[in-house]
Amino acid sequence: MRYIGGKSLLLNNIQNAIIQYTDGNVKKITDIFSGSGVVGKFMKEQGYSIISNDLLYFSYAIARGTTGVNSVPKFKSLEIKDPIGYLNQIVEDTDSLNRENCFIYENYSPNENCERMYFQNDNALRIDIIRKQIEDWKHDELITEDEYYYLLASLLQAVPYVANITGTFGSYLKFWDKRTYNRLTLEPPQIIKGKKCECYCGDYTKILSKKSDVLYADPPYNSREYLPNYHVMETIARYDNPVIRGVTGIRDYSEQKSAFCKKATVEEAFKKLIEGSNSRYILISYNNEGIISTEALSAICKAYAVPDTFRLIESDYRRYKNKIPNNTEGLKEQLYFLKRR
Ligand SMILES: C[S@@+](CC[C@H](N)C(=O)[O-])C[C@H]1O[C@@H](n2cnc3c(N)ncnc32)[C@H](O)[C@@H]1O
Repeated sequence: MRYIGGKSLLLNNIQNAIIQYTDGNVKKITDIFSGSGVVGKFMKEQGYSIISNDLLYFSYAIARGTTGVNSVPKFKSLEIKDPIGYLNQIVEDTDSLNRENCFIYENYSPNENCERMYFQNDNALRIDIIRKQIEDWKHDELITEDEYYYLLASLLQAVPYVANITGTFGSYLKFWDKRTYNRLTLEPPQIIKGKKCECYCGDYTKILSKKSDVLYADPPYNSREYLPNYHVMETIARYDNPVIRGVTGIRDYSEQKSAFCKKATVEEAFKKLIEGSNSRYILISYNNEGIISTEALSAICKAYAVPDTFRLIESDYRRYKNKIPNNTEGLKEQLYFLKRR
């Protein structure tokens, strides 16, 4: 999925830094700000064992249901051979669906009580019915934890393709984009056979003590918090009927604010990250226009580095525009590498 600060164009740069600057004996990588999950997935494909973590539950659910699963689930207890095909067809005829307690339909698609235009009515209903079915199977102990997150990841990955947005859920369009007329369709998540992966959902400080060879850290670069931009995804993942407010129907996120998004706390947050890490090497993704300057972040890294191991690797920033990588004048992607003292 398209994700703010997503690293799909930089996966090789990240791996090259690990190959070039470490002792070559790297087996386990912690992806502590996993976001869309592309880095963890790529590293698993390259043969590494992964610990992944993010503050947002929907990000965790995607990682847990993809990188966190090691073989395509068999759904033995459910006795449905193809649950994804089943979920796609239970919502074939949306006219006959029971519209009660359908949180997404009630709050994010236009009806007598709601003006929000995140989804067309039938797709909003499909999201609700599928989400509730997955939860019921879990409640009735018909699916394992792997199977639960595999199905949830499949639903979450399908949602952006029918959402009436221009990239994030921070706002919705006031006219229907043509993609919203597509029918919500779940696809089986890609499962990679590989080393065992652990997935967590929480503040980075809770994960630092876990031992790995490389701590890969890709925190937010600016004051833009992630939850407001993905609040609908978070609510579909949690499906917890939150109190919502405002034009966009945002949920409360006071518990999910990031220390990396505030000038007053970002320096301390980086110090904690490096000082508290139980990994031999640290690799940080950032850019030269972030809320902490290149000089300040370099100084923090050097303070904790084995002498002469600190490296700053810069490359021209590329962003997806209409699916074509674009150069943006002056902006540099950065990788800060160090061996921890
Ligand atoms: C730049 S994005 C990561 C992008 C990811 N590498 C990718 O390629 O998709 C930063 C991520 O950090 C997460 N985050 C921010 N503050 C956090 C914290 N204190 N603890 C854990 N995760 C945090 C955000 O939810 C967001 O997903």
